Amino acid sequence: MVPQVVDMPRGHILVLDDEPSILTTLQKALTLEGYAVDVAGGVKIAEEKLTKRTYDLGLFDVALPDGDGVDLLKRIRTAGTDMPVVMMSGHATVDAAVRATRLGAIDFLEKPLSTDRLLLVIENTLRLVRAEAEANALKTQTGQSSDLVGESRVMIELREQIARAGKANATVLITGERGTGKELVARAIHLASKRARSALEKMNCAAIPSELIESEMFGHEAGAFTGATKQRRGKFERASGGTLFLDEVGDMPLSMQAKLLRVLQEREIERVGGHETIKVDVRVVAATNRDLEAACKEDKFRPDLFDRLNVLPLALPPLRARREDIPLLAKHFLAIATKTNDRPGMTITEGGMSALAGYSFPGNVRELRNVIERLVILTPDDKVDESDVKRCLGTSAAPPPTGLFREGVPFRVLVEEAERSILEQAITHHNGQMSATARALGLERSHLYKKCRALGLRQDKAESDDD
Ligand SMILES: Nc1ncnc2c1ncn2[C@@H]1O[C@H](COP(=O)(O)OP(=O)(O)OP(=O)(O)O)[C@@H](O)[C@H]1O
Ligand SMILES: [Mg+2]
Repeated sequence: MVPQVVDMPRGHILVLDDEPSILTTLQKALTLEGYAVDVAGGVKIAEEKLTKRTYDLGLFDVALPDGDGVDLLKRIRTAGTDMPVVMMSGHATVDAAVRATRLGAIDFLEKPLSTDRLLLVIENTLRLVRAEAEANALKTQTGQSSDLVGESRVMIELREQIARAGKANATVLITGERGTGKELVARAIHLASKRARSALEKMNCAAIPSELIESEMFGHEAGAFTGATKQRRGKFERASGGTLFLDEVGDMPLSMQAKLLRVLQEREIERVGGHETIKVDVRVVAATNRDLEAACKEDKFRPDLFDRLNVLPLALPPLRARREDIPLLAKHFLAIATKTNDRPGMTITEGGMSALAGYSFPGNVRELRNVIERLVILTPDDKVDESDVKRCLGTSAAPPPTGLFREGVPFRVLVEEAERSILEQAITHHNGQMSATARALGLERSHLYKKCRALGLRQDKAESDDD
């Protein structure tokens, strides 16, 4: 007996046509070619199918008894879907063809269809879409430099954990202080998974006003609430087939926590104001810098949601717990900063390195990255030495995490600290160009120089390079 080989379909295609014989013929031909095919005899049925799953390609007739294929394409685009669609018609008007093309239809085929031509169009389209997705995945990989730098024992273990988490499909909970690399790890897990070619959607639960979180997560129908003029797909739908990164999940309001829990249990959502249930195939990776177990005890986080999220826990250590990685990371960020700031040939001396390695980095890897960038911009010569580092760290350690006020510190000192960090950030932001910085801050250039001198900020490089 010949063993039956079941392959993954080459793509899911939705065919919309009111002629039963065309539906049957196309379904047969496309299935033979290894595609998975769904057929719809009318616009309504097609719309229903579109809410149930994502398709790699749509093949739409124009004139149907219950509507118009071009109008359907328009609604799909309004909902934010960029599914490739090929139109086909027996008596296409130029107007319909122009509208369809404007809406991004891939092609407009005349009936009777040539199967060979149709297959070619489909194959080329899907190949293009895949190539684009791969290029995008690569871009996020390189652009965001998703390489995790570090050779300490914890980092080596972390890489193994990421590889394991990539193979699994279970929910991941990443915990760690600010700036320890939670987002980078979330991206690495996505890229290590089978979902790497699909979307990685990110939602920051702390940054969205609580009344908008539900629509952001689940989408909404037109008219669901004031301001909802169009139907909109939410993060869960957009991440379909891919990964949803729920950042700062510890800051999610309790009412939303209940809704998130339900989705994680049922794996289906309803858009706000909608009545349809939509199945979603999404892998959730959540992150927080809060102690969720403590939050559960204080009734700020639902223990049942915590259990659902904490299937694969990943705890990132603070940088001070793996100091041996500081020189590697410093070199890594130095290479980036010298390139972006056009200062080739800069190095950190041994003294500079040990000053860095001895510092506590309350802001973790992000702070180290910022310190190196500041050093590259503000150090006048090519060697970053111990005194450069100490000066830079002296001002970098300053901004306390909660507000500017600190008990017992005189007002004058607090204001000076704030001024110093504003000027430093502004100068760094403008690559050390003092004129641009002065303009951006609405200050006279001479006044800016005076301020810098008074606050002990260096402007040597800036003065010589500026004019
Ligand atoms: N191991 C690492 N190797 C290289 N770069 C890293 C590493 N860890 C973190 N970074 C970099 O440090 C910065 C902060 O990382 P990230 O945004 O992932 O931290 P986070 O934990 O999400 O911070 P927050 O809690 O503030 O959101 C980013 O620029 C990231 O690329
Ligand atoms: Mg983050």
